[in-house]
Parts: sequence; C-alpha cells; structure tokens
Amino acid sequence: MGNPIKRIGVLTSGGDAPGMNAAVRAVVRTALGQGLECVGIRRGWNGLVNGDFFPMTSSSVSHILASGGTILYTARSKEFMTPEGQEKAVATCKMLGIDAVVAIGGDGTFRGALDLSRRGVEVVGIPATIDNDVGCTNYTIGFDTACNTAVQCIDKLRDTMQSHERCSVVEVMGRHAGYLALYVGISVGATAVLIPEVEVDFQRDVAEQIRRSRLLGNTHFMIVVAEGAGSAMDIGQRIHEELGIDPRVTILGHIQRGGSPTARDRETATRMGYAAVQALLNGNGSSIITAHDGHLVTIPIEEALQQTKHLQMERYDVLEALHTHQ
Ligand code: F6P
Repeated sequence: MGNPIKRIGVLTSGGDAPGMNAAVRAVVRTALGQGLECVGIRRGWNGLVNGDFFPMTSSSVSHILASGGTILYTARSKEFMTPEGQEKAVATCKMLGIDAVVAIGGDGTFRGALDLSRRGVEVVGIPATIDNDVGCTNYTIGFDTACNTAVQCIDKLRDTMQSHERCSVVEVMGRHAGYLALYVGISVGATAVLIPEVEVDFQRDVAEQIRRSRLLGNTHFMIVVAEGAGSAMDIGQRIHEELGIDPRVTILGHIQRGGSPTARDRETATRMGYAAVQALLNGNGSSIITAHDGHLVTIPIEEALQQTKHLQMERYDVLEALHTHQ
C-alpha cells in the first residue's frame, strides 16, 4: 500500500527564530526528494484560515539556509484559536489537497497543531523559539543564535562600562522563561541575573551582589534581567536610589530575534526538518520532533504538550559561585 500522504503544507508561527528558514528548506527538499508535493502557508495558522499559500519547489528555498527571519512570514493567529477558524483551516487543507502540515514554532503553535490534528489533519511540529521554553524538548531552534547575539552586544557594552566604571542593566528577552538570561549571564560573567522563575528580592539579588562585587575590587557591574523578571528601567532606578550609582539601562529587544543562524541552529533545524517529513512518511503524524542530548525523538503531540521542563538551577549556582570568588 502506498503512503497516503501526497502533499504537505509547511508554516512558521509565533515569534520568529533564526533557523526557521533552515527548517523550512529541509522540510521542502526532503519532501520533494520523497516524491511529495509542498505548499508554503504564509503567516502561520492565519494562512490556513485565509487560504494564503503558494506551491513550493526546490528553488523556493534556495539561498535561505543562512538567513534569519522566515520567508513564510509568521503571526500569532487569534482566529485559528476559535472552532470556526479551525474549521476554515480544515476546509483550506481539503480544498488544496493538503494531507499533512509541518508547523514550526513554540508551545502556542503546538496547541494549534493538536487542535488541527483532532480535526483530522496530520500535523508534525518542529520547536523553534529563542526562549527555549518548550517543555518536551531540551532545545529549540533559534536559542543559540539569540544567546550569541546577546553575548556580542553585552561584550560591547562591557567595554564602555569598564572604561567609565559604570553599572549596566541589560534586559534580554524571555517573558516567561529565563533560559536566555541565565545562559547569557553565565557567558558574560554577569554580576547578577534576574529570571522570571525566581521571585526577585532586590536587596538579595541585586544590591548585595553589587556590594559584594565592589568589595572584591570591581568597578563596573553587569546586571542581566529577563524581561519577565521585571523592568530593567525600574531595576536601574532602584540601583540609583539605593546604592547611589548611576547605571545605564539597555534593552536589547528584537535584535535578539534576528540575524544569521549559528551552525548549531542551522544543523538542528535541518535535521528536524528532515525528521518531520520522515515522521509523516512513517505514519507518525500528530507528533513533535524533540531534541534530547543531540538525539531527535518523535513524540505524540498530546504527550509532548503535557511535558514540562525546569530551568537547570545549577546554572544559577554556577553564576553565584564564580561571582563570590571573583
Ligand atoms: O518569541 C518569544 C519572544 O521573543 C519572547 O521572549 C518575547 O517576550 C516575545 O517573543 C515578544 O514578542 P513580540 O513579537 O510580540 O514582540
């Protein structure tokens, strides 16, 4: 019996992440190589709801491996969250003869994937978000590039902070998760890192760390704040009021979501794209491709959405330990 899947759709959804294009390329080229047809869906789930699509060939994905962003555009679709929106998406799939969809994004994207698969369309998810906050996988595409971007920016900041013997408060992305802040904080030797997972105690987490660092002879201080842990402006203001120093506040913002993906993100995205098509061909539709210690594991969406992961708090301990002995 031949494989029932003849034509697949591919989309990117949620916040973009460097490496999404590499994943799209891998999905399209693997699928075409297996004799499947490919349809690009624009603007995430909105594209399925509104019938916003185009046929993809091998040349549709030429020269995108090294580029940030997503050629498919992305969005967070409100309409797709409604039963009516999902019915429209199913109708688009029927109209276009799409048997399965590969959806590249984060947790929100995968909740949409589950809804669609319950309505009879096979969906395989590929995790991509700079926040690395998808419970079922150790790694999400884009995290490494975002970390490197933030580290490069903070290294530059350190040059001028050191010259002027100043305190810098840097806000990095991460509305709900501190993976990026913690990883970056360790990589730049931050004086303190504030993350949403740990309730902030200004005296303990900021004032005391700066005082301790000062006693050790340091004359400049780098405070890294995940956006979900509080406002960098407010932290800067409190440092001024309570410690009598005049910090400079930098919000790195969306710079962290752009740029050419690192080798790690290109390689992971390419393997995940390949694995997603294999999953469909092997009858593992309605699943997510996850990464564990460098190995890719395909797990059912329902199971994947129930999994949670916790920030490795030993990273926090490492930061503190090094700071104490600076
Ligand atoms: O993609 C995740 C993320 O970058 C979060 O870290 C951040 O809070 C959010 O997206 C910002 O999203 P928006 O694109 O809506 O500004």
